[in-house]
Amino acid sequence: MSSSYVEDPAPGHGSLRPRAYFRSDARSLDLGGDWRFLLSPNIPSAPEGIEYPEFDDSGWTDLPVPAHWQLHGHGKPAYTNVNYPFPVDPPRVPSDNPTGDYRRRFTLDGDWLTQPAVLRFDGIDSCARIWLNGNELGVTKGSRLPSEFEVGPLLRAGENLLVVRVHQWSAASYLEDQDMWWLSGIFRAVTLLARPAGGIPDYWIHADYDHRTGRGTLSVDTDPAVRLSIPELDLHDHPATQPISFAAVDPWSAEEPRLYQGELATDTERVQVRIGFRTVSIEDGQVKVNGRRVFFRGVNRHEHHPDHGRAVPLDTARADVELMKQHNINAVRTSHYPPDPAFLALCDEYGLWVIDECDLETHGFGKFDWDRNPGDDPQWSDAYLDRMRRMVERDKNHPSIILWSLGNEGHTGANFARMAQWTRDRDPGRPIHYEGDLDCAYVDVYSRMYAHTQEVDRIGRGEVDNPRHRELPFLLCEYAHAMGNGPGGLLEYRELFERHPRCQGGFIWEWIDHGIRRHTPDGREYFAYGGDFGETIHDGNFVIDGLLFPDRTPSPGLTELAKIYEPVRITATTDGLRIENHHDHTTLSHLTFHWTLETEGTQVAQGELPVPTLHSGQSIDLPLPELPATQGETWLTIHATLATDTPWAKAGHLIAWGQLPITPATPPVRTGAVRILHAPTELRLGLGGFDPHTGTLTSLGGHRVTGPRVDLWRATTDNDRGEHHPDATAWREAGLHRVQHRVAQIHPGDTELLVRTRVAPPGLAFGLLADYLWTADTDSLRLRLDLAPDGEWPCTLPRLGLRLAIPGAFDRVRWFGGGPGEAYADSRQAARIGLHTATVDELQTPYVFPQENGNRIDVRWAELSTVDGQVLRIEGLPTFDLTARRWTTEALEAARHTTDLTPTDQIHLNLDLAQHGLGTNSCGPGVLPQYRLHPRKAALELVFRI
Ligand code: GAL
Repeated sequence: MSSSYVEDPAPGHGSLRPRAYFRSDARSLDLGGDWRFLLSPNIPSAPEGIEYPEFDDSGWTDLPVPAHWQLHGHGKPAYTNVNYPFPVDPPRVPSDNPTGDYRRRFTLDGDWLTQPAVLRFDGIDSCARIWLNGNELGVTKGSRLPSEFEVGPLLRAGENLLVVRVHQWSAASYLEDQDMWWLSGIFRAVTLLARPAGGIPDYWIHADYDHRTGRGTLSVDTDPAVRLSIPELDLHDHPATQPISFAAVDPWSAEEPRLYQGELATDTERVQVRIGFRTVSIEDGQVKVNGRRVFFRGVNRHEHHPDHGRAVPLDTARADVELMKQHNINAVRTSHYPPDPAFLALCDEYGLWVIDECDLETHGFGKFDWDRNPGDDPQWSDAYLDRMRRMVERDKNHPSIILWSLGNEGHTGANFARMAQWTRDRDPGRPIHYEGDLDCAYVDVYSRMYAHTQEVDRIGRGEVDNPRHRELPFLLCEYAHAMGNGPGGLLEYRELFERHPRCQGGFIWEWIDHGIRRHTPDGREYFAYGGDFGETIHDGNFVIDGLLFPDRTPSPGLTELAKIYEPVRITATTDGLRIENHHDHTTLSHLTFHWTLETEGTQVAQGELPVPTLHSGQSIDLPLPELPATQGETWLTIHATLATDTPWAKAGHLIAWGQLPITPATPPVRTGAVRILHAPTELRLGLGGFDPHTGTLTSLGGHRVTGPRVDLWRATTDNDRGEHHPDATAWREAGLHRVQHRVAQIHPGDTELLVRTRVAPPGLAFGLLADYLWTADTDSLRLRLDLAPDGEWPCTLPRLGLRLAIPGAFDRVRWFGGGPGEAYADSRQAARIGLHTATVDELQTPYVFPQENGNRIDVRWAELSTVDGQVLRIEGLPTFDLTARRWTTEALEAARHTTDLTPTDQIHLNLDLAQHGLGTNSCGPGVLPQYRLHPRKAALELVFRI
């Protein structure tokens, strides 16, 4: 049997014209479940005759459909970002082309034979040849796109046999070089659908909304015999193709996703439809929906499940949508392919703006300056257009989709221009997006990825050469790379999106870490990334760059994003507070405002805050509520929560908050200095025992401790190690990971101990002078650390502070300061001042690739306690940053997976003055100047109590 189709750049063949994805009341049969399966290492070794019923597949195994065979023990997943995992020699693919043969028997009754039927495949990666009952149906390519085949005359009453031969590699693989795992097989649904004669072949509902009049206009492209009913609008059996207008409808928006339930019907078929009235336009250089500018608070979503790869179950898709809504996200780019259709139905229902992106990326040609890139090569032209048609036709009925995207990172060329032209003709109602059209020759929006804030500002001001870049709406289809600890610097982007009307927001890269769940031999779970499956060519943990961990636990980055994206802003004015409504469409009537007053984190008063109606874009200044007098540090916190249950969160869910300082802290009173005691092997000063030769603290309240000692290093983050001039490289070259501590002088006085040191890297001449001045009161030990740079410093610092190890039993933490989650200089909007508790284990953020994490900011005091109630209290004068873990920074940095981290018998504390910001240099701009930590003269003052 010839397999020349595998290396043919043309699209597949034999399938039906693409049409909308829908379910009707006609019969259907889900062909999911266990199929017989055999994986052959290449095409020649795959068996002959598999399409015939008599073929013996008893030696094969079972494989579930939908699924990827690599996640069921056949072959292995492989991860590459830009590189093709095979030689670039288009359209040829490796001879070692794993080929999976699938066979599925199913039984039909005679009724199936009375009408036409189609077989629908929602996704096969990457290329498949299909037979039914020994007859070839055709070939499909385009992994994340549907194909339907006419099968009516081939069906039999009784047993039928469906056979699918899937090739891991095909010419189409050149068009599917997205940054993700290479995973093969029938990974979306397979369905047999009856197509009743006189039924509904296809339909396209156009439901427009005129925001000036409130009118809704409806027309349906379909067969003239189709009738439309929308009981809510008192429409019954209306000839569907005849346009109709309604004097007043509720529009659909991501904020208020109003859907009207309707029905399309012929005498033989009925389809339940959900209609959302909305009109997308470009006016004044802005994408508008229903006449209002859209602010894309977006994320890029790949389809990923840690056990199932891109075969994402429906409840997982629903979890994604609910998590997005819960975190104030209002937009999704379906990077970089059309998702399972169920996801789009959820976007309609819950309310998310969608950029639906075509399954098309050829990034690997970029390495050769795009030589032989398919995007400009006529032999690929039909494949390009075929992909776009199949996406647009499948998804055209979703009100949530407001932009079409031609694909990702495929450079530019005539094939893209052709896709755009076809789409514009077919659907004038949705603008076209493609970041790769740098000149904006055939797109309707100017889109960029990872542009620096300074550049976004220039674009917003119109200070750019290309007139298209000055006129078109601007968005960041990717920004703020969420790899590892980060992203830092979100606030600065939001300010630009709010300052410049044409800068309409963007989409964080990306929604979820694509880690694959694995277990160590002793049963501990971890998440695998590139290289963990023995790939010869891979891109390591670059696939771990999401706001969710692989198991969908929100990362601190997502918590920060929820605060940045909050659609209500609550801030202090000189004598009161301001509430701003940043929704695009709605008032705040769905929210309840509530205040609490807390002194040192303990609530002393609370109440409702009445907020008058505020339309979108409006703000109001309110006086402070009546507050009782307080002593001690006191904050007023205002919460805006959902007033009633929604499909995605219960009443009471927090949407936005703001904090105002009310009463400042009162400095602690000193109880009277104690004197130093000289013992033969120890200096004693109050709670502290010191080594007389080194001046270091050895015990605190009778507990053995190590340190405190100046610490400049952190377990470098993905962003520290980033792509352009990485900070981590500069830090390592400066030897900051191996500084030495020279004790210059020890001065025991009557009531104080002064230890002068110089901290510096080997082989280099610069350093840091660090003076430790210890004093004690009857109930406390005090340290003042004075730091001053010595010599010419070549770089910034990862951190500036102290490390101190205490016994492992002190493993519960209560602190008054920023929290509850981790925060860093440029990612700290979500931290609120309050009283927080956590165990040391809970303070860890389990980044899939271990790295610095867990910092708590602005800590006024922290108490570390043991299970039997012993407490070590550390107070900042006025504050410090706290990190506490069971392993050292060095062990954290050496770990490659979370399971490499083994607890020691100590708690390792970092008590910092500051840390360098996070930035997004793993793919994008580094740390902004205001968040960079430079060596400087500084002092840290701490009080220890036991
Ligand atoms: C972009 C690309 C994404 C992803 C990201 C880095 O260039 O479009 O698919 O690779 O970089 O994580």
